[in-house]
Formats: sequence, structure tokens, C-alpha cells
Amino acid sequence: MHRLAQLDHRYVWHPFTQMRDWLRQEPIVIVAGRGAVLQDVHGREYLDANASIWTNLHGHNHPRINAAIRAQLRRLAHCSALGLANEPASLLAAQLVALANPGRRAKGAGRSPKFEVRSSKFEKVFFSDDGSTAVEVALKLAYEYARRTGLAAKPRFLSLAGAYHGDTVGAVSLGHIDLFHRAYRGLLFPSDQVMAPYCYRCPYNRAPPERQDAREYRRCRWECVDQVARRLERQRRRGTPYAAFVFEPLMQGAAGMIPQPAGWLARVAELARHEGTLLVADEVRPPGDERAAPASSQPKASNLTSVRRQGTNWRLSAAAATSPPAVFRRVPGEYAEFKTFFHGHSYTANPL
Ligand SMILES: Cc1ncc(COP(=O)(O)O)c(C=O)c1O
Repeated sequence: MHRLAQLDHRYVWHPFTQMRDWLRQEPIVIVAGRGAVLQDVHGREYLDANASIWTNLHGHNHPRINAAIRAQLRRLAHCSALGLANEPASLLAAQLVALANPGRRAKGAGRSPKFEVRSSKFEKVFFSDDGSTAVEVALKLAYEYARRTGLAAKPRFLSLAGAYHGDTVGAVSLGHIDLFHRAYRGLLFPSDQVMAPYCYRCPYNRAPPERQDAREYRRCRWECVDQVARRLERQRRRGTPYAAFVFEPLMQGAAGMIPQPAGWLARVAELARHEGTLLVADEVRPPGDERAAPASSQPKASNLTSVRRQGTNWRLSAAAATSPPAVFRRVPGEYAEFKTFFHGHSYTANPL
């Protein structure tokens, strides 16, 4: 067995891995990557067919990305975002806000006029480290917002059946994949689930199966939307509307790559907005998916908080939660009130 494989067997505990099986054979030890190809210690090559779980959209060892990281490394590798701003974080936040507000132009957003932003649906970026911790940010923001606006004293959350939102305790609490979540039940807070729009296996789709995308030929009365409406209404009658409805927009990934029919998102977004419930869009896939989506499936609501992971090939783990103006108006307060958003990681807004 290769020396590095031996060290791995001896010292490394792998995520989501049955370690007893792992120890029975020599692991593939990757030493290099170029484009879509990875190379192991023996010189064998592998096609990285899922782009290292959507983190490497532009390919391994991309010269422009490498050059940008090297240029930043020569200036500054890290400084804390607690009490200090830094150049890449300021520029990137402006660009993210501009990209999250398509068609609008607002001020001072970056070098390119395409990133000019004047009025915004999304206003602030909170940098995080990865998908799970970005979900925690959105969760805590929604929690604080619900309490400070008086929407709910004990905020509760709604998410989709089969949802996966990450592995930190808050993110697991929002998820509903039993296999992943059962083990930690005792650690979690309760959250509610509602049926996902899954036309292919939908009990309400009356169309006989065809050899094409079930979203195109479905025959239903949007019963999946009715179920969201009923859930929201039931919670309102209890006197505590949901603080947030958390979902993956357009396609649920780990739940089984479940694509949503055009129009579902806009409909449920409107229902949630009516209740004062925030929307948390947990997006881990590359933005290309969104461009392919019909405009009718995009939520227009002003209550959207978007969570993005590093699916854009920043290489280094990064994520951001983009929040609407209302949240920023209500969550922070005056210094003496101690209304601060008490959350942050040591590497938040890392310049690299
Ligand atoms: C929808 C969704 N949210 C959150 C996460 C967690 O992201 P991370 O692995 O970066 O913590 C994932 C991971 O695949 C995901 O699919």
C-alpha cells in the first residue's frame, strides 16, 4: 500500500464514510487535478464527474483562479472580519448584491458597471464558511427577525419533505432525511415538513406516465401548493406564523435530484409573504441552473434570504447569506440595546 494511503488509514476519519469498509482496501489518494480530471499517487486518472460535489465548476487547477488566489496570498491571507473590513470581501459583497438584484442598478458596487446597484431586494451579505454554516446564519437571522418583529416568541420553521440542508445542528434540524437525522434526534429542535413538488412520483398527478419529464405533462391542481397553504394557515391559527420557509430552489439535490415544476416557487413564495414568513433559499448548485429556469419559477417576494455555498469554484470554502433590507432594519439595534447579530466565524470573509 502506498505510504500516503497507509497514513490515511492510520489517521484520517472520512465524512459520511463507513470506516470499517474503508479500512479493508487501499484508498484512492489524489495528488493532482487538471480540468475535469483527477490523478492519484500511482498516476492513474479519474473523471471528476460531479465536480467534487459541485465545488469545482470551472475545473481543477484553473490558471485564472490560481493566479487570483496567488495574487491575494502575496497581499493578505487572512484578517478578522470582527471590527475590520477587507478589500476582497467588500468587492465580492457588492458583486453578490448586484447579482442578487437582477435588472436593478445601485451605487458603488464594483469595477464593472454591470455590478452597479441603486435599490435592492437584497441588501447585505453575511459571509460564512460553507453551506451548513450559511444555513445557520439564515436560520438565526430569521429567528431573530421573527422575535423582534413580534411575529413569534418561539419561532418555528417549515421545510420540504426529504430536505437536506447540511450537518450542523441547526441545519440538521431543518432537514428531513431520516437516515441522516435519526441519529441526532435528541440534539435537534423540531421543525415541520410539507410535501415537495415531485411531479414524477406525485400522488396527485393524474396523468398516465410518459417517457418525458413529468413536470411537462402533469395533470394536477397544484395540490402541493395547497398543502403549503394549509400548513402556513394552521401555524398562523396557532398564533405563531412560521419564521421561515426553507427550501432548495428549482431542484432538491440530496433528496434525490427532484426538479420543481415552473410556477411552484413563485406560488409558495407569495403564500409565505402573505403570512410574514421569510423565505430561505438554500442554493448549493452552480448559478447556471438558475439561468436555465423560467422567469415564472423565480420568487419575486421581498422576504427572501438566499444562502449560497461555494458552487462557483472559489476553491476555498466560502458561502454567503444575502438578506433583504427588512431583516437588516430589524435585527441590529442601538449599541446600548445589545441588539447585535451574535454570530460569526474566525475565518468569516477570508480574503483568499
Ligand atoms: C441543499 C444543501 N444545503 C446545505 C448543504 C451543506 O453544505 P456544506 O457541505 O458546504 O456544509 C448541502 C450539501 O450538499 C446541500 O446540498
